[in-house]
Amino acid sequence: MAGGPSTPELVAAVCGSGGLGFLAAGYKSAADMRAEIDRTRALTGEPFGVNVFMPTADTPEPGELDRYRRDLAGEARRLGVALGTPHGGDDGFDAKIEDLLAAPPPVVSFTFGCPDDSLIRAFQRRGTAVLVTVTTVEEARSAAAADGLCVQGAEAGGHRGSFTNDELEGVGLHRLLSDLRPRTRQPLIAAGGIASPVDLGDVLALGAVAGMAGTAFLRCPESGTSAVHRAALTDPRLTRTAMTRAFTGRPARGLVNRFLTEHSAQAPAAYPHVHHLTAPLRKEAAARGDVDTVHLWAGQSWRHIRQAPAADIVADLTRL
Ligand SMILES: Cc1cc2nc3c(=O)[nH]c(=O)nc-3n(C[C@H](O)[C@H](O)[C@H](O)COP(=O)(O)O)c2cc1C
Repeated sequence: MAGGPSTPELVAAVCGSGGLGFLAAGYKSAADMRAEIDRTRALTGEPFGVNVFMPTADTPEPGELDRYRRDLAGEARRLGVALGTPHGGDDGFDAKIEDLLAAPPPVVSFTFGCPDDSLIRAFQRRGTAVLVTVTTVEEARSAAAADGLCVQGAEAGGHRGSFTNDELEGVGLHRLLSDLRPRTRQPLIAAGGIASPVDLGDVLALGAVAGMAGTAFLRCPESGTSAVHRAALTDPRLTRTAMTRAFTGRPARGLVNRFLTEHSAQAPAAYPHVHHLTAPLRKEAAARGDVDTVHLWAGQSWRHIRQAPAADIVADLTRL
């Protein structure tokens, strides 16, 4: 979980209680990623994973971004900040890959796309298992060289890991598993809305070898979830989640707040351009504890999560 929640402490706690924790390489430099890997290695001897964003290929028309900038001008005035400069970028992909190949972690997972077979094989030769997040049968087909697939349903919190940016809503997890199970022999790891042993049992019954949870860990003391995000997860005024491009330009599921309600319809499909455009707004809003203006990633099962150490959450989920 990039953006703060995944910390070495959270990963070590999950790995120490029978789970497989993932560090987030997204939104940080290769050097910061390496520092987190080293800290995780110091905290646990168990295997863990590192999650990397694949470079994305959105090429928005300048007019689209200008229109969205005008739409957000009132937000910037209200908070007294300048909007960011929208630009593309690959999140430092090459530097991160170079570093990971030089000192390979046990597992690497990719989202927003699939690396080419030669890169997958380079990790495999070094003993690193490669997982790729997929959200459709077609994406799964193009990730045939991976050691396993993270099958992410539309229930999931945070960004959808789709390879393209053309569809907002996505397919539910059970539908996807049912469609995928007969079509591949790769291990399927199910993600999206898993918050109880029943949820986990359901996906195992549909042929997954494991379940993957994000939202369930957002309230753990070991997680780096921001104060405003934590408060939002128990705020009675926030009553549902929705998919939106309003904050980053890519479909992501979050709690429905004022910003999401007012800007989703105008937001262009332009990632990471919109992410950079709104970053100063979100930073300032988070500092002020302004729950109406920040992104509040959460999956559809957010009501069922509790504040407890990560080891207890793993025990909750696996009590079959
Ligand atoms: C706050 C947050 C941040 C996330 N960041 C990432 C990320 O950096 N990379 C990634 O592959 N998935 C990310 N995800 C999605 C998770 O990998 C996973 O698919 C999702 O959490 C599963 O659904 P759930 O939230 O209902 O448990 C994130 C999810 C959340 C809630």
